[in-house]
Amino acid sequence: AYQWRGVITEYSDHLPVTGSTPVVTLGEGGTPLVSARRLSERLDADVWIKVEGMNPTGSFKDRGMTMAISKAVEAGAKAVICASTGNTSASAAAYATAAGITCAVLVPDGNIAMGKLSQAVAHGAHLLAVDGNFDDCLMVARKLSESYPVNLVNSVNPHRIEGQKTAAFEVVDVLGDAPDIHALPVGNAGNITAYWKGYREYAGIGTASRTPAMWGFQAAGSAPIVAGHPITEPDTVATAIRIGNPASWQQALAARDDSGGRIEAVTDRQILDAHRLLSSGDGVFVEPASAAGVAGLIAAHERGEVPSGARIVVTVTGHGLKDPDWALRDPSGERITPTSVQADPIGIARELGLE
Ligand code: F0G
Repeated sequence: AYQWRGVITEYSDHLPVTGSTPVVTLGEGGTPLVSARRLSERLDADVWIKVEGMNPTGSFKDRGMTMAISKAVEAGAKAVICASTGNTSASAAAYATAAGITCAVLVPDGNIAMGKLSQAVAHGAHLLAVDGNFDDCLMVARKLSESYPVNLVNSVNPHRIEGQKTAAFEVVDVLGDAPDIHALPVGNAGNITAYWKGYREYAGIGTASRTPAMWGFQAAGSAPIVAGHPITEPDTVATAIRIGNPASWQQALAARDDSGGRIEAVTDRQILDAHRLLSSGDGVFVEPASAAGVAGLIAAHERGEVPSGARIVVTVTGHGLKDPDWALRDPSGERITPTSVQADPIGIARELGLE
């Protein structure tokens, strides 16, 4: 029977690997590209959702991590380190375990979602909660990797970008060409860098006839690229993208400008509304940060800036079960609880309005 073999094996021709690279894979990539009926109606466009929460650890990070860990092992590394708002740590922990090497993760104390924290613990990482934000964690992780024999697996590691660019390949392979617009959330800005690289490479070899406009969206309280300067105290409910000084800032600007795209901010309210719309409208459950791309598209559409009938791909980056609490609050923030009933068919039928 057919089984997807992970991004390194599927796309080896396009990646810096050789026959002797040890492939550390959990079967990442090959994620669903879902035709979004409700979102297409809402935006008056042809919208497709790239569901990256379907990767082995529940986020797009696995595409980059299979490369980063495989290359680290190839180079003889015995330990890796990363800073993370949660998903990178979950992914690094899982792939390091699969490779049989040590993993240390630095996360901002109190600001990472429970699902992600539990993954890092489950996979046996050295989990350190730093008194600081993501930017502080990354600064420390970089310094440690410069002074000690530990390999940095954040997206400043070029192998991460190489792995993550395969998501753009998959979009083109499924749709037959690049879309008009590709929208996604922006945090440390590795992913927008990676997609843009993937689209350019496919256009360069003629597999795609064109490249899309890259539309990136930051959370309003953590939007340094939009503001044009680092944010010292970033804040947002979308903890995954609570980042004030993105490492790939310049590459994100290049993706925006070279593609004729945009990088804009969306409010926490817009993010949570889009989060709800995705799950209740199109059946795709994501974590809050993942909805930033959808929130940005809706805002742009309301300003009349989404061309009618445009083909749009929007990446939703992480699974809803990473940070499920948000689904259990209504728009006003009230807690939603299940209705308690007796084990009685008639009573339940009444409750459901069937009787
Ligand atoms: N969405 C999710 C769910 C993320 O976890 C991240 C980044 C992003 C979007 C933004 O991607 O950084 O490439 O621009 N999470 C990192 C982490 C920072 O540590 O897990 P980016």
